[in-house]
Amino acid sequence: MTLQTRTNGTLRHLLTLEGMTRAQLEALLARAQKFVKPIGEPPVQSRSLDGITVANMFTEPSTRTRVSFELAAKRLGADVVNLEVQLSSRVKGESMLDTIYTLEACHVDVFVIRDAEAGVPGLVAEHVQPHVSVLSAGEAHLSHPTQGLLDALTILQAKKKFDGLKVAIVGDVKHSRVARSALHVLTTLGVGEIRIVAPRALMPEAGEFVGCERFTSLDGGIAGVDVVMMLRIQKERMATAQIPDADRYFAKFGLSAERLAKARPDAIVMHPQPMNRGIEIASDVADGPQSVIRDQVRNGVAVRMAVLEAVIEGRH
Ligand code: CP
Repeated sequence: MTLQTRTNGTLRHLLTLEGMTRAQLEALLARAQKFVKPIGEPPVQSRSLDGITVANMFTEPSTRTRVSFELAAKRLGADVVNLEVQLSSRVKGESMLDTIYTLEACHVDVFVIRDAEAGVPGLVAEHVQPHVSVLSAGEAHLSHPTQGLLDALTILQAKKKFDGLKVAIVGDVKHSRVARSALHVLTTLGVGEIRIVAPRALMPEAGEFVGCERFTSLDGGIAGVDVVMMLRIQKERMATAQIPDADRYFAKFGLSAERLAKARPDAIVMHPQPMNRGIEIASDVADGPQSVIRDQVRNGVAVRMAVLEAVIEGRH
């Protein structure tokens, strides 16, 4: 946390939501809400990042996070460079830090980093110049802080509160950085009950998700909840033998309309995407009236605008 915050208390890097205060999180959500516009209206634009350069460096695939960081930076007036890592000199053996130093020499002010290896955003944050910020766009299975913020904002918009809510996080919790960041942000913001629902093979270790009730049945796990947060089966983080059979998985853990009826009638359905339709979620639920999945995507741009603006504003 000390690495993340400047001595004046402002946010310098965003590497994790773990340890952030409720006031810090609420301030970011309030700032993000100002950037939210209904789909169909022109997006909010400003010049608050005029003269700033943002570099997106993704070594794992991404659609939403990469596009929304790029749009967020451009809508605030920043220059953006998207490093195609697989076409960069990294493939000739250049190290991550030499790549960072090279881009710093090109006046990059903010690095947005997604990496399959744990510790990479933190390593970069330890080596950049004092005026430079590092934002994690997803770190291994550990952390996806802007996803956690956009999920919290989506819940707040739908439910107008966090206190007393019951949230079920369902699916491949073991491999999910989304679930870990959701746990950190929702716990700090006052959500009363967080359940994790997964087959035994996809449950996290006993030392993780402390305080969450564990369910190995979807019907029991989502009974009476306000929020159903579905997760993708992360085949890329499993050995082939561990990957569940799609039909059997849907039969036991797939969210169908019939199953959703066990949650509260006004429950919302979330999914960070990409979705495996017909495996963890039925299409009529993903596209149905209780789904806020596209709101999550819209809020992703707003949250990333808020985080970019906050780390740059704090420099002054
Ligand atoms: N939710 C999420 O991180 O999506 P992408 O992998 O497409 O960025």
